[in-house]
Amino acid sequence: MNKDLLKRKIAGVFLITLVGILIIIASIAVIYSTHKNAIVNQAKEQVITTAETASRGLETFFLDKRKNMDLYFNGILNYMENQDMLKNQMENILRVYYETENTYLQQVVYLTEEEFKRKEKFIEIRQKSVFGSYEYKEDGIFILNMYKPLYLSGYLSGYVMACINLNAVYDDILYPIQIGKNGYCTVKDRSGMILMHGVESQIGINSKTDRKKKYPDLNPEGIDRLVENQISGVSGTELVKSYWWDKVEDGKVKKIIGYTPVNVMEDFWVISVIMDYDQIEEPLHQTLTMSILVGFLLMLFFGFLVFYITRDLKNKQQMQMEWKYERKLYESESKLEKQEERAEQYDRLQTMGILMGTIAHEFNNLMTPITIYCDLLASRFAKDEDSAEEIAEISSAALGCSELSKQILAYVRKETQEERMLPFDGAAAAKTSMKMIEKIIPGNIKLNYQISSKPIFLLGNPGALNQILLNLCTNAYQAMKEEGGRLEVIFQHIENGEAELKIKDNGCGMEEETLKNIYDAFYTTKAPGEGTGLGLAVVQRLVSRHKGKIQVESTPGKGTAFTIIFPVLERKKLNKSKKDTVYEEVINKKLKVMLIDDKPEVLRALKKGLNITNWKLECFTNALPALEKFKKNPEKFDIILTDLSIPDMNGFELAAFMKKRNPAIKIIVMTGCLEKDINEYIGKNIIDAYILKPLNIKDIIEKAAEFSLPGSNCI
Ligand SMILES: Nc1ncnc2c1ncn2[C@@H]1O[C@H](COP(=O)(O)OP(=O)(O)OP(=O)(O)O)[C@@H](O)[C@H]1O
Ligand SMILES: [Mg+2]
Repeated sequence: MNKDLLKRKIAGVFLITLVGILIIIASIAVIYSTHKNAIVNQAKEQVITTAETASRGLETFFLDKRKNMDLYFNGILNYMENQDMLKNQMENILRVYYETENTYLQQVVYLTEEEFKRKEKFIEIRQKSVFGSYEYKEDGIFILNMYKPLYLSGYLSGYVMACINLNAVYDDILYPIQIGKNGYCTVKDRSGMILMHGVESQIGINSKTDRKKKYPDLNPEGIDRLVENQISGVSGTELVKSYWWDKVEDGKVKKIIGYTPVNVMEDFWVISVIMDYDQIEEPLHQTLTMSILVGFLLMLFFGFLVFYITRDLKNKQQMQMEWKYERKLYESESKLEKQEERAEQYDRLQTMGILMGTIAHEFNNLMTPITIYCDLLASRFAKDEDSAEEIAEISSAALGCSELSKQILAYVRKETQEERMLPFDGAAAAKTSMKMIEKIIPGNIKLNYQISSKPIFLLGNPGALNQILLNLCTNAYQAMKEEGGRLEVIFQHIENGEAELKIKDNGCGMEEETLKNIYDAFYTTKAPGEGTGLGLAVVQRLVSRHKGKIQVESTPGKGTAFTIIFPVLERKKLNKSKKDTVYEEVINKKLKVMLIDDKPEVLRALKKGLNITNWKLECFTNALPALEKFKKNPEKFDIILTDLSIPDMNGFELAAFMKKRNPAIKIIVMTGCLEKDINEYIGKNIIDAYILKPLNIKDIIEKAAEFSLPGSNCI
């Protein structure tokens, strides 16, 4: 992996992690704030409900106290016979009352009418007990005065004043009402004066005015608004930042305060329930910490999970890759083995080819005297019809043999085809080939061929065309051999001076994959031993040597059609009559011809065959004596007719030597098989022509006649 890719990968992972963390933080924040709001609202509900409960508790308490007082003193008054009796027993009456209610009472006092009026100027009192004024005592206690008028026989005998200690009331009724660790209740009057408080020092302070004076350095937040709301007589909750008044040194704290009015006498007081806000936040903080911890653990867990899964996947991928690699290796090894096998087979074929080539070459040499003597005998027994016929039979058999050897040579010496690029009639060659192919095609295949009746002149050779047809038709009938079918071969002229050869079958056809490879040497779909995979490779090579183009169309299950387009040669019309005249002239010319061949029988046959001419012949079985002769007088000879493979040096070397000394001399090379660079030698003017063995006298005279035609260096 390159560095850039690695960097980009790390940056990607980092970015994804960052986005993941941000999403988790945002989710926690949203959950936290929703949860917090719910809890704060719940706490507010709780404080206000508690305040209302406390308010009702206090009201009930005061009502009870009044009822008790009425009950006690009304009962006493019922037993009193007169004023004196009442006054005499007053001390006892008050003591008993005090003893029954002493938990709350500071004192119980008897007041005369004057004394009462002095104390409570604004209270209208009838039969029942009422609450009067409340007053602050020095020792941090508020006293609420409760009065009971004493009516005996319709006359007012004075008042009983019961002083209720509000601190005792607080301890009994309000102190137990505590929300949370630091929670407490307070009661203030509608001027803001604190009447009851958990911290004694706060009792008697006016929360609206005195606190600021008492604590000038402190700055509680939200208190003013709270007090204003409280004394307006409504219920509600507030969040304030204030102090725990018994430990102001601890600093500001956040409080939730629920408040509601308490009805006392004609007036109302305000009861507040205070709760520590931090106590609400504490579980929230715990939840937050837990959430973060759980989130972090989850991330860690998923991180590890992803890490292990990707590692596992990577391992699997790597294993798969290794497995694929091994499979490929195995495949290529077995492919290599197969190719080696084929190469061996190809080698064997090549060796066989060389062997066959040598045999065919020798065969040609041996056939040369037969054909030449046949010509001689034919002219000698021209008048004897029977003999002439027999000689013609021998000659035709010899020609057949030579044709066969030519084909063998053409087949086995594929690389020499190019050099044998001669104009020939493709239509005629194709007809001959098709006749041969017709014989080898199995019976279940119907062959139908249409070959142009006009000649199709191509530059190449009939052997190659035969091979093209043979290979393509063989493939076609092999593709149809199971089911049978129809094989169509069409060879005709088309536009643009071209000819089209079409070989069409309705056999098994080919898949896309097969089509891609068909021209590869050794590519075959046939079972081992059934095909070498060389057929189409050879066809392609031969077609391109004929400057043609090959195309294929195939549909699996339907069939295949190969189309080859050949360029057609414009036939150079030779003036036949002129050619014939020149032929006659050449025979009669007194040409000096040197014949060189290592086979004496060939030389003998040539000598005899050329007896029909006026030529002066000198024969050599070896190159050196021939050269010696030539060197003495290079201008002496008109034509040198030499075999290509002669002892001491080959025909080309000999020709080069001679041409150097006499460029006008005409050299014809005789050969049993075509050498690769023979055309090159002609091009370089080292030799002038070649004749393929087995040759006949006519070939030689025709070549000599060509040299005498206009345009060539006349002999
Ligand atoms: N007419 C056709 N129909 C179906 N498949 C064909 C046809 N011609 C060629 N092929 C396919 O192309 C492959 C290659 O053909 P090619 O002639 O090069 O080799 P071959 O026929 O397998 O072997 P060889 O020709 O050496 O006997 C064949 O194995 C066959 O799969
Ligand atoms: Mg084939």
